[in-house]
Formats: sequence, structure tokens, C-alpha cells
Amino acid sequence: MSVKHFHHMALIVPDIPVQKTFYEDFGLIGEEKNNQAIMRCIGRDQDQIILTEGPERKLHHISYGSDLNGIASIENNIDRSELATQIDSPKETPYDGIWFKDFEGDVYNVNTSESAPSKGGRQPTINHEAFQANGPGHYDRVNQKGSIAYDTQPEPHRLGHMVEFTTDLEKKITFYTDVMGLKLTDTSEGLIAFLRPPGGGDHHTVAILQSDNTGFHHASFEVDSIDHVGLGGQGMLEKGYRNGWGLGRHALGSNFFWYIRDPHDGLCEYFADIDYISDDEAWTPRDWPLDVGFYLWGPNPPEEFGMNYEGTKKTTKPKATGKGARV
Ligand SMILES: [Fe+2]
Repeated sequence: MSVKHFHHMALIVPDIPVQKTFYEDFGLIGEEKNNQAIMRCIGRDQDQIILTEGPERKLHHISYGSDLNGIASIENNIDRSELATQIDSPKETPYDGIWFKDFEGDVYNVNTSESAPSKGGRQPTINHEAFQANGPGHYDRVNQKGSIAYDTQPEPHRLGHMVEFTTDLEKKITFYTDVMGLKLTDTSEGLIAFLRPPGGGDHHTVAILQSDNTGFHHASFEVDSIDHVGLGGQGMLEKGYRNGWGLGRHALGSNFFWYIRDPHDGLCEYFADIDYISDDEAWTPRDWPLDVGFYLWGPNPPEEFGMNYEGTKKTTKPKATGKGARV
């Protein structure tokens, strides 16, 4: 028994309205209550990113869902592990279950919840035909336009995964597997590891990156297709936000990606077509060479892509405000 699904994540930011506007421009919807902003995907009844005010941008907590048996089992794991300590739940949190810290101070919640269905998927519209592709020796799309409408507004359907920095990759893998019950999917040369809940799911709901400090790297939202990844990234640049990295295709996870830099120096990713693992026995974790594992194609990643802004103590004052603020 263990965690079952990735529920939400929470960030501390110096300027909630600026970060909220960024996520709204990205395609999420937000609500302010109790001095926080709660960001959700349209059509999905589940909090996705929670913003709390504080002096520096920082990861506040990561939340997974399970059931009562799963939570009891994780409590047992915490008792037996030197890598985690149970803590009191924050005041006024709407989430039940348990709260704990890992060996480097990152905070987690595991609550009783099912993964809320997302609105996503192919809608029965004429654009459905656009998913049929023509290729050498076959025309699967005939008498139909392949490109989708130029003014399509990509809608993020669900928070698929997040990526964080760690001071000790091996210990963090052990924490996630032995305490939370996640499965290791892939690793790459001691720099990065990808993990997922057991029992079937995306290639990763969390990836961890070796660094000199803990820290938030990116949150990633699923959209319909590579066209929506492209239109989403392009739209955010037109709104004045900074390019994070894209368009490209990852090798590990296989997803198309486009990252946009948020005003507090984090990243937010549009993704589509990620690998899905249906049976834990059918997947054997492999360690991949970095030059194979990082990405399959795309522009060269900017130098700051892998930077841990929480480790370098660089300013986290909000930068681009969006809505036409060009940088
Ligand atoms: Fe990602």
C-alpha cells in the first residue's frame, strides 16, 4: 500500500497576484481565499497548485492521494525510516491524512482522495480528424484539414508531474520508494531520477534532480497534442513571458514539451503524449547516458534551464508580468 496518485503541489511566492496571473495566462483558473490562490484546470475538481505568500519563492509542500490503508502503511514506513518525520498538519488546511518532512526538510501530505477526472481528451469535433496523420504509403486523413484553428486556446487538463531538486539523489530515491511507495521508472547518470505511483500511470509524477540545495524546478500540465504544446508555448511568449525551453521531445518519458519561465523563476511545462506504464512488472528501470536521456530533439536548452534558483540565492522578485510585458 502506498500513495496512489499525485494530487497537488504548493509554492510560497513573494507576489501571489503576479504568479496567479501567470498561471491564468498559461490556461489555469484561480481563486483567492484565506490569503492563498488556488489554481485548477478547467473542468477538473481538484486543486493543482496552491500559492502562499512568503519572502522567497520556495516549495511549500507536495501532496499525493491514497486511502486509509495506504495512509496507515505510509505512517508505518515513516516510523521505520530515518529519512522522514511526521509533523503536525498546517492550520486551516482543507486536506486530511498525514503530513511529514523528508531528510532535507521538504514537506509532504498524503490525503484520502481519488484522482479527479479531467475534462481532457479528444472532443468529438471536426478537429478530431486532425489527430489522424498522413504518412509514407498511407493517408489516414483525407479531405480534412490537418492543422487546428490558429486561435485555439490550449487547455491544461491536469497537473501530470513536478520536478524538484535534491541534495542527495540516492537518499531521495530511497525516501520516495521506501516511505511513499513510488516505483523507480528511469535514472540518468546520478543526475536525475523519475518515479511514479505503483499500479499503472504516467512515466513519472515526480522527477528529482541532483543539486546543492532543495528547490522547485517545474510543474507540468497535460494538453491535447503536440499542436497544443506548440500553440501554448507560442502564446505565452506573445504574452511577454520568458521562454524556458521548447518546443522539443523528451527521450525519457517521450513527451513533447515546452517550458515557460514564471515570474518567480520557476518553470511551467505544457506536455503531450507521455509514456504510460500499465503494469509495474512490465517496466524495468534503466540508467540512461545523459546525452541519450535528456532530450530527443529540440533547440539547445538555455544554460539557466537546469539552474536551481533556490540554491543560488538569486533574486526571486517577480519579473515579466505578462499581459504584454515584453522581456
Ligand atoms: Fe516535465
